Parts: sequence; C-alpha cells; structure tokens
Amino acid sequence: MSKLLMQAIQVYQYGGPEQLKLEAIPCPAPQAGEAFVRVHAVGVLPIEWKMRQGLFKDTRPATFPYIPGSAIAGVIEDVGPGVTAFQKGQAVFGRTNNGAYAEYTAGALETLALKPEKLSFAEAATISGGATVAWTALFESAGLQAGQRILIHAAAGGVGLFAVQFAKWKGAEVIATASSYNREFIRSLGADHVIDYTKTRFEEVVQDVDVVLDTLGGETLQRSMQVVKRGGILVSLLEKPSLQEAERYGIRAMFNSPAFPFPSTNLLQTIARLMVEGQVKTTIAQTFSLDEASRAHALSETGHGRGRIVLQVVH
Ligand SMILES: NC(=O)c1ccc[n+]([C@@H]2O[C@H](COP(=O)([O-])OP(=O)(O)OC[C@H]3O[C@@H](n4cnc5c(N)ncnc54)[C@H](OP(=O)(O)O)[C@@H]3O)[C@@H](O)[C@H]2O)c1
Repeated sequence: MSKLLMQAIQVYQYGGPEQLKLEAIPCPAPQAGEAFVRVHAVGVLPIEWKMRQGLFKDTRPATFPYIPGSAIAGVIEDVGPGVTAFQKGQAVFGRTNNGAYAEYTAGALETLALKPEKLSFAEAATISGGATVAWTALFESAGLQAGQRILIHAAAGGVGLFAVQFAKWKGAEVIATASSYNREFIRSLGADHVIDYTKTRFEEVVQDVDVVLDTLGGETLQRSMQVVKRGGILVSLLEKPSLQEAERYGIRAMFNSPAFPFPSTNLLQTIARLMVEGQVKTTIAQTFSLDEASRAHALSETGHGRGRIVLQVVH
C-alpha cells in the first residue's frame, strides 16, 4: 500500500454542510474481494446530504464518524487477498460501500468495472447512483418497452438525464418535467415533450402514460397516479406509493429504495459502452475539490441544477 494516511471527509454528527470535516485518517486496507482505489472523482448524490442531515436516522442510523459518498472513479493501487479479476494500475468506476469522499477507498469488486479511456474520471463518477438507478427503474422495475409512453420527473437531475436518454434509446416516447432553464437541455437529450413544472401542472397536459418515473415524491407522486393508464406502472425513487391509491386507479406502483440491489459490473459496463458509443452522454453540473465538499452539498441541497455535482479529488 502506497500511503498510511489519507485526506478524507468525515461526519461526526448530523447537521448542516459544516459537518463535513476534512481530516487525515488511516487508509483502509482492502479485504478479500475488494480493491484499494485511489479516488480521482466522486459523484455527489442527494442521499448523502439527506443522510448527513439525519433524515434517515430512524430507519438507517449512521455509525459515526463516517466518510460519505459511494459513486467513484479512480485507479486501483492494490487488491485484497486472492483477487485476480482486477490489477494494480487499472482505472475503474462504480460503487464503494466504504466511503468515497477521500483520497482512497476499498471497493467491492462486484460493484466496480473497468473505466473506458474515452470517459473522464468525472464522467465515470456520474454513472453509479445516477445512470444505474435510472436503468434499474426503467428496465428492471417498470419493464419499459419500445413504443410505450413515459413521464420522467426531474429530467435534468443526475438520475433524470440518464432516464430520458435510456428511454429514448429503448424507443419510448418521453415526456419530461423541468424548469424553463433546463427545457432546451432536456430537448437535447431527446425528450419528445418538456413540461415546465413552474408554469404547467403536468396532470393537466399528460394522460395515459405507461410509466411514470417519480424522483420527487410528495405531491408530485400523488398527482402522478392519475396520469398513468390502467395497467401501467409508477416507480418512485423517493417514497412508498399508497397501494390503495394505486388500486383505485388500476395501476401498479412501487418504491425502489436506495438499498435496491447495487450495480453489477455487467450493468456498469453496459452503460459505459453506450456512453463510449455516443448513444448516451452525461452532464456534470459543477466540480469541487475534496476540501470544498460542504459547498458541493450546499449546492446539491438546493434541489435545482443540471446534471451531477462531482468532487474532483485528483486534478
Ligand atoms: N431510491 C433510490 O435508489 C434513489 C437513487 C438515486 C436518487 N434518488 C433520489 O431521487 C432524487 C433525484 O436524484 P438526482 O440525483 O437526480 O437529484 P438531483 O440531480 O439533485 O436533481 C435535481 C433536479 O431536480 C429538478 N427538479 C426540482 N424540483 C422539480 C420539480 N418540482 N419538477 C421537476 N423537476 C424538478 C431540478 O430541475 P430544475 O433545476 O429545472 O428545477 C434539477 O435538475 C433525489 O431525491 C434522490 O435522493 C433515489
């Protein structure tokens, strides 16, 4: 192992962005089935500020101190005992469960894949927790098919931007919601119709879709039930939809919790291939350095913007 100490962001208690503390702490040691990765870039996911605020303290309490982050891209520095599938020096991306706002992490190999040269580290760090979530919701949960109509909420976000492109790639008709600031951006991703949610209530102009992808929850989720056609499906990434309500509308409704199966190497590779072929592109909202993690969280907490915020750990 190349280093004994590393810079990492630690959280000691629930609270605001100021709880993200940059400290020198011991490097993790890779266990069997893991790689020791020099982190180059990390995607900043909304779940990370929600966790930091304590929004999950009753259902998934944090063990303090912890290092936030999971969506990494970096270079393997070492591998755990018995590992032969990956080697030192390979550039990889995917998900780690051991904290990622750090110079190094130890990641499980089954949630990592080789990073294509054509993708930058920052681009590759937008895949886990964004593209992987969109793919799973559309194709595994909703079973989206060519020719179907789908309504995608928050289409300019880190999940939505991939969802729009995957749905178009599959041959679906895409209706997307975003503010007017993001209208042309969503169009450029291929959406057939964009609804400016600040001006139009989507349920007044959308009916009979086969699928809704809800990334907002609350009243957006409630109002979405009525636009799904009988026999269609609503997939929420935010909360459990009311099954009674769904039954009343004659639709299926489900919640993909963040504990949904982690991305496999296979899925990561499939998505990266589409990106290398130019069929799907990512968008980075803004990059910050590791010591600016609190600024990155403050920006993510606004709930607005375009694309994924990324911490660029190696410049
Ligand atoms: N369950 C899971 O497995 C899972 C996984 C990933 C994410 N999530 C959750 O899904 C949500 C979205 O994640 P993300 O990474 O895509 O977040 P994000 O990148 O922070 O999404 C921000 C986007 O939301 C849009 N937005 C805000 N309010 C809106 C509204 N009322 N109608 C339409 N669009 C609106 C914004 O568009 P404007 O700037 O145009 O307003 C912005 O582009 C988060 O709450 C996250 O925690 C869940």
